[in-house]
Amino acid sequence: MMVQPVPGHSLERGFGLYIHWPFCRAKCPYCDFNSHVAADVDYPRFAAAFNREMAHMAAQYGTGRPLSSLFFGGGTPSLMPPELVAGIIRTADDLFGLAPDVEITAEANPTSAEAGMFAGFAAAGVNRLSLGVQSLRDEGLVFLGREHSADEALAALGQAEHHFRRLSIDLIYARKDQTIDGWKDEIRQALDLGITHMSVYQLTIEPGTVFFTRARRGEVLTMDDDHAADLFEATNQIMAEAGLPAYEISNHAKPGEECRHNLTYWRAGDWIGVGPGAHGRMDMHGGRRGLATRRSPASWLEQVETEGHGIETILEDGTGDAVAEALMMGLRLAEGMDLAALSDRFDDLTLHIDMAAHDRLIANGLLAAEAGTLRVTRQGRLVLNRILAELLITATYPSS
Ligand SMILES: C[S@@+](CC[C@H](N)C(=O)[O-])C[C@H]1O[C@@H](n2cnc3c(N)ncnc32)[C@H](O)[C@@H]1O
Ligand code: SF4
Repeated sequence: MMVQPVPGHSLERGFGLYIHWPFCRAKCPYCDFNSHVAADVDYPRFAAAFNREMAHMAAQYGTGRPLSSLFFGGGTPSLMPPELVAGIIRTADDLFGLAPDVEITAEANPTSAEAGMFAGFAAAGVNRLSLGVQSLRDEGLVFLGREHSADEALAALGQAEHHFRRLSIDLIYARKDQTIDGWKDEIRQALDLGITHMSVYQLTIEPGTVFFTRARRGEVLTMDDDHAADLFEATNQIMAEAGLPAYEISNHAKPGEECRHNLTYWRAGDWIGVGPGAHGRMDMHGGRRGLATRRSPASWLEQVETEGHGIETILEDGTGDAVAEALMMGLRLAEGMDLAALSDRFDDLTLHIDMAAHDRLIANGLLAAEAGTLRVTRQGRLVLNRILAELLITATYPSS
C-alpha cells in the first residue's frame, strides 16, 4: 500500500528552524543530548544571542521561503520563560516569515513547574507540544531516573490538552525486566488518553552517560535484541490498529498529525539550527551544506557576542553524500523516498545508487518500488543498514 504524502503540508520538503535550549533541571542517566544543569541562566543574554544568531542565519542561509516549522528542542525548552519563546517567534517571523499553517513545537517535561508554563507557551504562538512522558509506570520512571511520577505525567497531559490541539508524547521501551504484556498495557493506556502522536524509542546506551558507565561495569539495563524486536512489533501492531500507524521507524501518528518539522529532516529538506550545539542542513551548490554550532552554552554565547554566530563547523557535502542522506532518512519513512523528486534535485543518481542492487533488493522483497517511490518492506525494516550499504556507491555520509 502506498502511503500518501502528509496532507496540508504547505511546502513538501519544508523549511524549518530548530532552536536548541541546552538546560535541564537534572541530567537523566540515559541521555546524551546537549543538555546541562546550571544554577543560574542569564535569560536576557540568551535572548539577545538567539536573536543575533537568527539574524546571521537569515542573512546567510535564508531560502526566501517562509518557515513551515519551528521546533524548540533541548534540553528542556519548557524551562524557558514564555516571553523568551515569544520573542524568538517574533524575531523568526520578522527575519524569515512564517507560513500561514506554520507548526511551532516545544518539547516539555511533565514536572509541575514546567506544566504551569503551558498557557504562556500557547499565548507565545506554540501550537504543538511534545511531552517527555517516557513511561506511564512509576517503576519505569524510577529506573529512568526521571523527576516525575506517572500521575504527574498524566496531570501534565491533562493540562496540556487545554492549551494545545496537537499533542505528542515520548515513550521509552526495552528497559530490562519489562514484559511484553506490561508494555502492551502501557501503550494501550496512552492510546486511551486520545493522544494523536507518539514517539516510541528503544532505550539505547549512549557513551558518556551514567547508564553507559553502569553497563560497562556489567549491569544489565536493557533487554536483549530479540525481546526488544517483539516489543517493537507489538507497538507497530497496536498503534496501527488504533489508527496511529508508524509513519517513521519510531514515530506514530493519526494521519495528518505527523510532525512536519521532523518530516523536513527525514525528507532531507532545508532547515536552520540556532542555539548551542544546533545543526542545520540545506541544499547548496548541487550538494548539501551542514552547519553545527558550538555545543558548550558558554562558548556559544561568547562567540555569538563577538562574531554574530556560534557556528563551529561547516560541511560541504557533495552529491554522493546528499543522495546518501536522502536515502538514509527517506527510507525510515513509511511513505518512502521519492526517487523522481530526488533526481530533479541532484544530477545523475545512477552514479551514486547501485541500480543492480536496487533491482536485486526489490526482487528479494526487501525494497518495494511504486510510481517512482522507493520504500523498505516490513522484512527490509529489520536490515535497513545492510540495504543502504548495498544501495550506496559513493557516500561517506554521515560525515560528522
Ligand atoms: C531531547 S530529549 C527530551 C526532551 C525533554 N527534556 C524530556 O526529557 O522529556 C528527546 C527524547 O529522546 C528520548 N531519548 C533520549 N535519550 C534516549 C536514549 N538513550 N534511549 C532512548 N530514547 C532516548 C527521550 O524519549 C526524550 O524524550
Ligand atoms: S532526557 Fe530530557 S530532561 Fe533528561 S537530560 Fe535529556 S534532555 Fe534533559
